[in-house]
Amino acid sequence: MQNTYPNSRPKVSWCKDRQVPGLHLNTGRTMVDADLLVVKNVCTMTQKLAEKRLTVLGTGKLGGILLRAYLKQELFAPKCVRATVQHAEKAKALGKELGVAVTTENRKAAQGADIVLLCVKPKVMGEVLREIAPELNEKTLVISVAASVPTNYIEQHVTAKIPVVRAMPNTPSTVGCGMTGICRGAHAGAEHLEIARAMFSAVGRTVVVDEKNMDAVTGLSASGPAFAYIILESLAEAGVKVGLARDVATLLAAQTMKGAASVVLETGDHPALLKDAVTTPAGCTIDGILELEEGKLRVTLIKAVVKATSRAGELLFEK
Ligand SMILES: NC(=O)c1ccc[n+]([C@@H]2O[C@H](COP(=O)([O-])OP(=O)(O)OC[C@H]3O[C@@H](n4cnc5c(N)ncnc54)[C@H](OP(=O)(O)O)[C@@H]3O)[C@@H](O)[C@H]2O)c1
Repeated sequence: MQNTYPNSRPKVSWCKDRQVPGLHLNTGRTMVDADLLVVKNVCTMTQKLAEKRLTVLGTGKLGGILLRAYLKQELFAPKCVRATVQHAEKAKALGKELGVAVTTENRKAAQGADIVLLCVKPKVMGEVLREIAPELNEKTLVISVAASVPTNYIEQHVTAKIPVVRAMPNTPSTVGCGMTGICRGAHAGAEHLEIARAMFSAVGRTVVVDEKNMDAVTGLSASGPAFAYIILESLAEAGVKVGLARDVATLLAAQTMKGAASVVLETGDHPALLKDAVTTPAGCTIDGILELEEGKLRVTLIKAVVKATSRAGELLFEK
């Protein structure tokens, strides 16, 4: 498949507002230290969150990753945090480990919360919302990470006009390298998005999208780590085939993928231009690229994301 890319080097949006250490922005009238502005904004939001009462409902894999990050980074004070799970023995163990109140009682946990973070599976979302609805009001910010659950589904389950933010993080959040797509519901404003961004920035990068694109975010960046692991595993396998020890091959493959991704994120250069820079005329890389094209790698990856995206829209109504 032919790839098309512009001749110029368009900088993608995440680089436009990337903060360069020591960068001074000339605003026309005064010189502003961008670093200081960023630090000040982060501090203000951190202070704001530290005063909020947070309830995490469904503290499993993802809820646990998020809550551990918040507590480690002191984003929320442990005494202001409540969490729930389904099983009592899990609640006890988690409460002991995290030093916060963990129970199996969603309604009680949601009582008086400023922020309710919904991390339960899509199929139990309706039941959990019905349980906690009496405790929510227009001042409660509800953030959901459940795949395929639209904001209006949550809004319809509660009587008040509550602000709802929907987020789709991914598992590299475990190591602070996550990617989260965020959108807002009918009653959420810019300030609610800002709170959600701060909460997901604790585990990586964030991007705000229209809700109509949330299944696509799920298919690309939430399922994406699995696709990337398969590519990484295959590269490592290839290293073994050409004589490298498996651990060396895995290290080479993983750091190469991390490095290539970092260059795209740091420079904002188009991946196709970066690929061209590696491809010497009549060199070895072009021979490898020919094999990838013959094996239809591009079209296979595109089809994988398309399938995952359409599947993402189906999860809510499954038992
Ligand atoms: N994992 C991912 O990569 C990922 C990425 C993006 C979004 N998400 C979304 O995150 C959500 C959670 O996924 P997960 O992978 O973290 O699942 P998980 O590990 O199975 O966690 C689900 C948690 O919900 C608890 N739970 C079940 N029923 C409950 C109820 N009625 N009340 C309170 N808690 C209840 C479970 O309790 P027990 O521990 O006691 O069983 C468990 O702790 C899903 O909606 C998913 O779409 C996941």
